[in-house]
Amino acid sequence: MSQNPSVPLSRNEHLLRWVDKMAALCRPAAIHWVDGSAAEYEALCAQLVAGGTFTRLNQEQWPGCYLARSDPGDVARVEDRTFICSHAREAAGPTNNWVNPYEMRRKLRELFSGCMAGRTMYVLPFSMGPVGSPMAQIGVELTDSPYVVVNMRIMARIGLPVFQEIDKQDRRVVPCLHSVGAPLAAGQADVPWPCNREKYIVHFPEAREIWSYGSGYGGNALLGKKCFALRIASNMARDEGWMAEHMLILGVEDPRGEKTYVAAAFPSACGKTNFAMLIPPKPLQEKGWKVWTVGDDIAWIRPDARGRLRAINPEAGFFGVAPGTSVRTNPNAMAALARNTLFTNVALTPEGGVWWEEMTPQPPARLTDWQGKEWTPEIARATGARAAHPNARFTAPASQCPTIDPAWEDPEGVPLSAIVFGGRRATTMPLVYQAFNWTSGVYLGATMGSEMTTAAAGTVGRVRRDPMAMLPFCGYHMGDYFRHWIGMQKRLTETPRIFHVNWFRKGADGKFLWPGFGDNMRVLKWIVDRARGRALARETPIGWMPQYEDLDWTGMEFPREQFEALQHFDRALWRQEVIGHEELFLDLHAHLPKEMIYERELLICRM
Ligand code: GTP
Ligand code: SPV
Ligand code: MN
Repeated sequence: MSQNPSVPLSRNEHLLRWVDKMAALCRPAAIHWVDGSAAEYEALCAQLVAGGTFTRLNQEQWPGCYLARSDPGDVARVEDRTFICSHAREAAGPTNNWVNPYEMRRKLRELFSGCMAGRTMYVLPFSMGPVGSPMAQIGVELTDSPYVVVNMRIMARIGLPVFQEIDKQDRRVVPCLHSVGAPLAAGQADVPWPCNREKYIVHFPEAREIWSYGSGYGGNALLGKKCFALRIASNMARDEGWMAEHMLILGVEDPRGEKTYVAAAFPSACGKTNFAMLIPPKPLQEKGWKVWTVGDDIAWIRPDARGRLRAINPEAGFFGVAPGTSVRTNPNAMAALARNTLFTNVALTPEGGVWWEEMTPQPPARLTDWQGKEWTPEIARATGARAAHPNARFTAPASQCPTIDPAWEDPEGVPLSAIVFGGRRATTMPLVYQAFNWTSGVYLGATMGSEMTTAAAGTVGRVRRDPMAMLPFCGYHMGDYFRHWIGMQKRLTETPRIFHVNWFRKGADGKFLWPGFGDNMRVLKWIVDRARGRALARETPIGWMPQYEDLDWTGMEFPREQFEALQHFDRALWRQEVIGHEELFLDLHAHLPKEMIYERELLICRM
């Protein structure tokens, strides 16, 4: 770390001027230019420990790991406080919150005025995508949260190499301003998790600018992630002919040693991290099947010179859901988070370790819960108190994942052969089916529904339409977004095959019909074999479906009747489903590409 972090680390005049201007607005006590070094990271972590934000974990058990507890009112993304402030309301569409940008800028200037008093403003340069990759984009986040700085060092490429890139190319960067909105008066003591009840997560798509106020948590504050890599990048992508998607990327190695890359869009907390790190069941491993991880949350996808889609993971770390993660469900994630990881809102063991629901079959006898209160299994039984918040997360370096793909940092990206959509659906949706072609695949993604989860504030369990898992993340009109998807086909010589999966269908007893996790390999194998033209399927009204014989059941007792129940096409439920499609389309009508209407008509005719 440089001796004096207040000395600017860039000569870029636009950047220097913007930093001056924002400092004059926010009036921080100091400015710290982030070099991204290990020494700087250590110093910031020590400072967070001293301030009570971090607890240093037992370093024998959890080397390099820390625990943070957030304010109980700041635990997830806030979709109702998220705004797309395009010049025209029309451009943001009915699925986004919109405020006139002039009005919003006035409001933000008010909120940010003096908001960093008593705090340090960090100047944090970051690259989404490997530094120097033709597919990478650069941002600079000004933040008054050292927690954000250390998390961003894991989630993105940050620091000196990025400043050098900015200076070398005189590149346009995306300005991102972030404040927890908790100024300190002279002598006022800080709290462990400063934040503000009033929250604003604001995007200016035309100016390519982000302003975030009042929250220090996840996607609200780590601005490279949802705000930049999805909401702003989706606007860049539309203008420049590429795609910014809420998708994991994985590579399937088959018994011939060939790799097939697949991207999959599932809504928040619906299984992307788990699917990206899938470990096949033993008998399939023995046959030579292996899954490699490229990314677990976001994909930037672009046609190459040959007209083939290539994808990069713009991130460098995983911000994964902790509860439910275990050696049984996701050993790769457990290995990735074993060291150098930051935990937020999980429980603390008496030995200085971490625990969350389902991490081990038996909970420890005694814990400190995510709010710092005493927790025992007895208390939990009596009060229903959870040890970890359901949206508790780990921030872990992607490089620590045992199955990280050798090509995960390839600046050109990996070639995509299949795209998978999926939601959390107790009924209606089969385990797997394949769309007839690109347009019917776009329809399938566009009409996707899923039960809401705790990843965002809202009514958990209610089915909502979540097109391409992008409802909270598309930075422009959803109808135009569908049109962009349809239009991509013209740029391609080879279109990836499109599929829909549902790991969450339930039987009459309310239990999942499908074991999920590692056994999802059986579905993935069929997907890859279909994409390579070597698996059979049967035509149904909604698409191509595997028959019982078309999946590999080696080493698994799965009755044919249960498979039929999983795949069952229920006409009455599908009629309901199509009404749900219609409701979404009514909202989007003026911008809806006509292909979507035709696909809907065709679906109804087939039914
Ligand atoms: P975000 O990080 O919010 O975008 O979430 P994600 O899509 O990466 O979801 P994640 O993989 O973290 O999974 C969320 C929850 O779904 C966890 O509680 C998992 O245990 C559960 N889950 C994941 N895969 C499966 C599966 O195949 N079957 C079942 N039943 N549950 C699953
Ligand atoms: C999601 O909610 O989809 C996440 C977590 O990946 S956050 O970064 O908070 O958006
Ligand atoms: Mn996500």
